[in-house]
Amino acid sequence: MHAFIRDLPKAELHLHIEGTLEPELMFELARRNNIDLPYKSVLEVKEAYNFEDLQSFLDIYYQGSQVLQKEVDFYDLTWAYLQKAASQNVRHTEIFFDPQSHTDRGIAFETAYQGIYQALQDGKSKLGISSQLILSFLRHLSAEEALATLEQALPYKDSIVAVGLDSAEQGNPPSKFKEVFDRAQAEGFLTVAHAGEEGPPEYIWEAINLLEVSRIDHGVRSMEDPELLQYLAEKQIPLTVCPLSNVKLKVFDSMAKHNLKKLLNSGICATVNSDDPSYFGGYIAENYQAAQEALDLSQQELYQLAKNSFQATFLSPESQQKLIAELDNYCQVLS
Ligand code: HPA
Ligand code: ZN
Repeated sequence: MHAFIRDLPKAELHLHIEGTLEPELMFELARRNNIDLPYKSVLEVKEAYNFEDLQSFLDIYYQGSQVLQKEVDFYDLTWAYLQKAASQNVRHTEIFFDPQSHTDRGIAFETAYQGIYQALQDGKSKLGISSQLILSFLRHLSAEEALATLEQALPYKDSIVAVGLDSAEQGNPPSKFKEVFDRAQAEGFLTVAHAGEEGPPEYIWEAINLLEVSRIDHGVRSMEDPELLQYLAEKQIPLTVCPLSNVKLKVFDSMAKHNLKKLLNSGICATVNSDDPSYFGGYIAENYQAAQEALDLSQQELYQLAKNSFQATFLSPESQQKLIAELDNYCQVLS
């Protein structure tokens, strides 16, 4: 991998912590918690990671999460991600967690939250990575279940910056969750939503107009709607794009066909992220690298993507400026 990309100061804004579960840790946690896995070896796990679409991935992803049982498991998972992120000079990260995939198995909301939160605190003090937490609702479940999850999160609302929407997109439009998101906003949460990954541009409009999102997760299908594209550029509503994920889940046939470069060059605040790195073949630097190679991104374009990542964070303008100054300094020293 290019040292330039690895060491580029960057923010990661689209990362499901459950999607960082590496097969080795999956086996370790299964052993610790006496859980039978349907795999015999790490190799067999990796062979199962061939997906046809989003749903075929989600089935395996939720199954993998079952090894997460105790607070320390969530801590170990998050700590492993943060170490990896530090090695790729991620300076700030805003990570999703899916409480419903744990509470539905009888694991308390607090167990998942406390383990993740403690590791994020240590990430700040020991690795110098700042972070924020985003609670993501599973959109294949009902709005009532999302609302019950929001209620569980209220005691922790000072350390959860936003709510989001993930899981099976098609047939589960943002409008289904309008009331939940209204309530979340009234409680002080910011909002984001996965939209336009597999779903149509209309879902992106709904996320903007009904859920009042600050960012769109994925959003690559915005390219099909010129008016939407113009709106996203004008309002600088960021897209958290995940190139390796999109190719693995067959949103694009190949990386060469990915529209990241077109989005960026339409003036959209596009960012590069890893989504579920353990399942999709790479962390954030591998995503930058794969896109760079297939789309022939210039150093200026890589710089712009990293700058966008800081501008798209939920940090204060002052904190964003500090990180952008670090990025500017890095690029000046090199050029
Ligand atoms: N899309 C929807 N749901 C998800 C994803 C994704 O890319 N990753 C984890 N849950
Ligand atoms: Zn995602």
